[in-house]
Amino acid sequence: MQQASAALPKCKCVLTATKTNEGNWDLVGNNTPVFFIRDPSKFPDFIHSQKKNPKTNLPDPEAMFEYWANHPQSLHQMTILMSDRGIPCSYRHMNGYGSHTLSLWNSKGERFWVKWHLKTNQGIETLTNEEAAKKPAFGAQKDLVEAIEKSEFPSWSVKIQIMPEEKAKDYPINPFDLTKIWPHQDFPLIEIGQLELNRNVENYFAETEQAAFSPSNLVPGIGASPDKVLQARLLMYPDAHRYRLGTNANQLPVNAPKCPVNHYQRDGAMAGMCPAHGDTNNQGESVTFYPNDRVNEGAPVPDPSIVEPPMPLIEEAWVKAYDTKDEDNFTQAGDLYRIMTDDQKDQLAGNIAEGLSQANGHIQKRMLEQFNSADPDYKDRVQDTLR
Ligand code: HEM
Repeated sequence: MQQASAALPKCKCVLTATKTNEGNWDLVGNNTPVFFIRDPSKFPDFIHSQKKNPKTNLPDPEAMFEYWANHPQSLHQMTILMSDRGIPCSYRHMNGYGSHTLSLWNSKGERFWVKWHLKTNQGIETLTNEEAAKKPAFGAQKDLVEAIEKSEFPSWSVKIQIMPEEKAKDYPINPFDLTKIWPHQDFPLIEIGQLELNRNVENYFAETEQAAFSPSNLVPGIGASPDKVLQARLLMYPDAHRYRLGTNANQLPVNAPKCPVNHYQRDGAMAGMCPAHGDTNNQGESVTFYPNDRVNEGAPVPDPSIVEPPMPLIEEAWVKAYDTKDEDNFTQAGDLYRIMTDDQKDQLAGNIAEGLSQANGHIQKRMLEQFNSADPDYKDRVQDTLR
């Protein structure tokens, strides 16, 4: 999880790593059910726009809003971020979401599209900008570590939404669009378990700094989807790990699976599994390529029983290279606005106005147009607060 150090609302990372008998599965999510982009090629520009000013090294609200003014597909996520949920009062008091559509598939070759939700059992608690500004820089981290030390283990109810593969073809909302949620009335939340944090790490460097989570760490039965942002992430994270930790990042104790590993991607710098230390799992002198003639000697072979059903690529995998003019970027942002209480709407308008007031009039005008497309009252409230 990321430290909420400044008073500015930011996405908080939510990570779970599940070590199964068949390998590691990672859910690499956020505290919001959607994201700013539906096209991964936009990620670097989006991230640059949220960074500090390259000259002054100060937070740059005008740049943030300049990007959003030019990029209406971010409106839904921006509304969540600027709402009262934008700054959780602690990691224990926020939900987690896989955000992307993932999949579950069974031995009969049936696939279901799935969204994952981790609902906090501590209840949602949030901070205003003013309250957050008064908090110590590492308050959220301290809160979590101390709660676990006191055996007040925080927990989350693990829930999923399931969409049959066939339904995805005619459902009016693109099921692989990361800027959209699936309404609960169409796809109710189904509780499947509990997640409890009941141990603090003993050594932050060994267990946290060196941890390498990736959406591509999947196990038989759990798969990805045609969501293009997810497809990009499947490759990006292992790439970051090779740079950050080295080619054998997955052999570090915190990342290594509990089960034996048998494949042909092996050796190289800092390989951790060493026969000199009695490690029998490093594949020794055995064959380094496939296909080979050594299957009878135990060389690994693909297991057809765990081959994922073929991924249907229909309508250019649903998600095209984006020209967003025809996309509906506003309905769900408006739906979210309309279920807020009056106080929450005021807080949203206040949070937005605080940053938007530092942007020029042209940016303000285009943001107000976006709010108006979501809900005229949304626009009025921000406009009134801006004055
Ligand atoms: C095209 C879009 C995205 C790209 C290219 C991207 C890339 C990255 C990279 C390279 C890292 C560092 C990984 C590491 O060194 O271990 C990272 C971290 C992270 N990202 Fe993303 N990301 C994207 C979108 C998202 C989305 C949509 C979510 C949530 C739904 C997300 C959640 C996270 C989390 C939780 C981490 C922290 C991982 C850790 O500390 O191990 N990212 N991202």
